Amino acid sequence: MSNILVIGAVGQIGTELTMELRKRHGGKNVVAATRKTPFPKELEQSGPCIFFDVSDKEAMKKVIKEHNIDTIYQLASLLSATGEKDPDLAFQINLIGLKNTLDVCRECGVKKIFWPSSIAAFGPTTPRDNTPQRTVLEPTTMYGVTKVSGELLLQYYHNKYGLDTRSVRYPGLISYKAEPGGGTTDYSVAIFYEAIKHKKYTCFVGSHTVLPMMYMPDAIRGTIELMDAPREKLTVATSYNLAAISFSAKELADEVARIIPGFVCDYKPDHRQAIADSWPKSIDDSQARKDWNWKHKFGLKEISEDMVKNLTPILAGKK
Ligand code: SER
Repeated sequence: MSNILVIGAVGQIGTELTMELRKRHGGKNVVAATRKTPFPKELEQSGPCIFFDVSDKEAMKKVIKEHNIDTIYQLASLLSATGEKDPDLAFQINLIGLKNTLDVCRECGVKKIFWPSSIAAFGPTTPRDNTPQRTVLEPTTMYGVTKVSGELLLQYYHNKYGLDTRSVRYPGLISYKAEPGGGTTDYSVAIFYEAIKHKKYTCFVGSHTVLPMMYMPDAIRGTIELMDAPREKLTVATSYNLAAISFSAKELADEVARIIPGFVCDYKPDHRQAIADSWPKSIDDSQARKDWNWKHKFGLKEISEDMVKNLTPILAGKK
């Protein structure tokens, strides 16, 4: 049994990951932390919830000592598009926040830490099809810069201090419980909200844009499986490529229209198109599949059907 701290617990990944960890480890053994966003009821009622900023090392140490924390999921982050609006804040939260957490782990004897990297670690000079695990990392967004630097920090702290650092490069994540905010892949979630509410969506990337995507239940399971894997099996100390499926914006829109007859999508690419164009179309995650048996379950059809099934009653105010 672990005592776990989830930092960034109110974000798109954090909300679902915290609930799953509480199911497995018991509510009181999983502390949820956020900077300022109010906690949703389900988090508030199922275990300890605490406010602190990742720039405040003393506040972090206090929580770790009080709750005898041995494992941290550090998810606090600005996403790619928001990061371009305020690169200094993205650097502060994404990278200095990680460095502070790693240092606090050393100082307080926390053994294990998970931190998310992303397909944003890649850039326009990276091979875009079936992007290899080890390849060129020259991202053009501040978000991507913090992801590459963070991956190297994880490797450094593992080699130098023996900290058990673990990470995956998530593709775009599709979910219905908490909305993403300020990411380039957000259209793959927003399309479902708008299709259910208005049968209409204006997509901010072009119809032929292809990006790697994954359903949240796969992402949560994969994250926990990586954290549970025997350390000696792990051969990547930076961050594992993690993939499920790739599809174009038009393929997604066609699938949504199949489930919601009458749905219409048009395309008005904005500044996020350039970010999407700098990222891979598909990812080679064979190292994760080999080292810790990673395997995705959800394809485009299953994701779309599950999204519509779950989001429809939520948007109708019934859930
Ligand atoms: N989903 C993220 C974004 O779009 C990428 O990790 O910014």
